[in-house]
Amino acid sequence: MARALIGFMGAGKTTVARYLDPDFVDLDREIEQVLQITISQYFREKGEAAFRQLETQHLARWLASDKLIATGGGIVLSPDNRRLLRACDEVIYLRADFDTLYDRLQKDPHNQRPLFDKSSKADLKELYETRQALYEVVADCTIDVADKTPQEVAVLIKRSCND
Ligand code: S3P
Repeated sequence: MARALIGFMGAGKTTVARYLDPDFVDLDREIEQVLQITISQYFREKGEAAFRQLETQHLARWLASDKLIATGGGIVLSPDNRRLLRACDEVIYLRADFDTLYDRLQKDPHNQRPLFDKSSKADLKELYETRQALYEVVADCTIDVADKTPQEVAVLIKRSCND
């Protein structure tokens, strides 16, 4: 059965997944491959609601596999997604404080995140705060990542979660 990594933008879901299992699925990249455009472009052309529908379809598809899935930061917004996640083998939440995440996002040279680009720091913080409870509610295992490298996080997951 599948396992999923969740957490806010900048938590390191994709990088940590790469250390845990090179055969992982990155949900955002899968969606981009199918669409043949970037998520940023898709947000601009079709809007966030259309993206969320696609996200749910892809999540359901990959949760039916036995892969490790790196999800997008907004995966927990939809009640359907939360139900799907709760039924999967294990959900690992990469948790960090807002300032750490914001700092990482600002420094990310590959940053192509529509919500980061269009939001003020205060808006982003509000988004972060409203999502915390949603991450917590679906998480089977929570790892504090703020002061750790992705390798250290991967080791901790192997040690503390049901790897
Ligand atoms: C989003 C996070 C992004 C991506 C999309 C929306 C969000 O993924 O799915 O831009 O709502 O937090 P990352 O968390 O990998 O940046």
